[in-house]
Amino acid sequence: MRPKVSIIGAGNVGATTAQRLAELDLFDLALVDVVDGLAEGKALDMAEAGPILGYDTQLVGGTDYAITEGSSVVVITSGLARKPGMSRDDLISANAQIVGDVTEQVMRRSPQAVLVIVTNPLDAMTELALRRSGLDRFRVIGMAGILDTARFRSFLAAELKVSVRSVEAYVLGGHGDSMVPLRGVTSVAGVPVGRLIAQPRLEEIVQRTRDGGAEIVKLLKSGSAYYAPSAAAAQMVEAIAADRRQVLPCAIRLDGEYGLSGVVMGVPVKLGGAGVSEVIEVELTKEERAELDRSAEAVREVTAVLP
Ligand code: LAC
Repeated sequence: MRPKVSIIGAGNVGATTAQRLAELDLFDLALVDVVDGLAEGKALDMAEAGPILGYDTQLVGGTDYAITEGSSVVVITSGLARKPGMSRDDLISANAQIVGDVTEQVMRRSPQAVLVIVTNPLDAMTELALRRSGLDRFRVIGMAGILDTARFRSFLAAELKVSVRSVEAYVLGGHGDSMVPLRGVTSVAGVPVGRLIAQPRLEEIVQRTRDGGAEIVKLLKSGSAYYAPSAAAAQMVEAIAADRRQVLPCAIRLDGEYGLSGVVMGVPVKLGGAGVSEVIEVELTKEERAELDRSAEAVREVTAVLP
């Protein structure tokens, strides 16, 4: 039997994550949504693509959490998305209720699962799911760092006219305006980016990265990004369910790492079958250190209003 992965929420992010995972042909998938027929219809549609694309992924969809029984990984995408002009933090009260309920439903059927949290505001929702699940902090992991880092890498690659594969970068901190794109370790073939791009231009790229989600919300007018977010969520699921031990920037509650405790933030972690097995501590410049502390404060402020 293949490892089972459940995805809660069959909206754009959830359904596209399911599609990406179905095409990997490594796991069986369950897709759940409160809207009658939505998850079932999308799962059936994806299953019917299997003969064309050549995958044998078993897909089930429905409104009943019974289909998630025995999952190795559960991805939580349920909740409202941003509208133009809204910050991720504006979503907290509506989404806290939803993510709290979903976490309890999921844990009843899959007490051994690793949870991947995608709902915004990301860091606060990860904290909430951690509290409600009763799992240890290494098994409740938020998706944000991979997405923010992918945006940073794509902008840098376009600027330098080089493949995205050749740009190494990390974006740490909260998934919000205070996120911290690291200039110190960002490089192309080992050459620090500061030597390739003039400082003022680099700062513009850093700012565009921070505004990356809002840029898309503004263009789409209704709904928020989902191609890159689903790619990031699928990468996390693959690292966990296939036990890849891949180092990826993900949100977990810190317990002394980076000199911070009791706050969920994005940091590089080693991700494998048991969730996070190690937090990697990257050397920060003085400015990055100060930005990370400010980001922690911003996350604490949002998290403080959790029920
Ligand atoms: C973004 C939203 C999904 O960054 O947080 O696009």
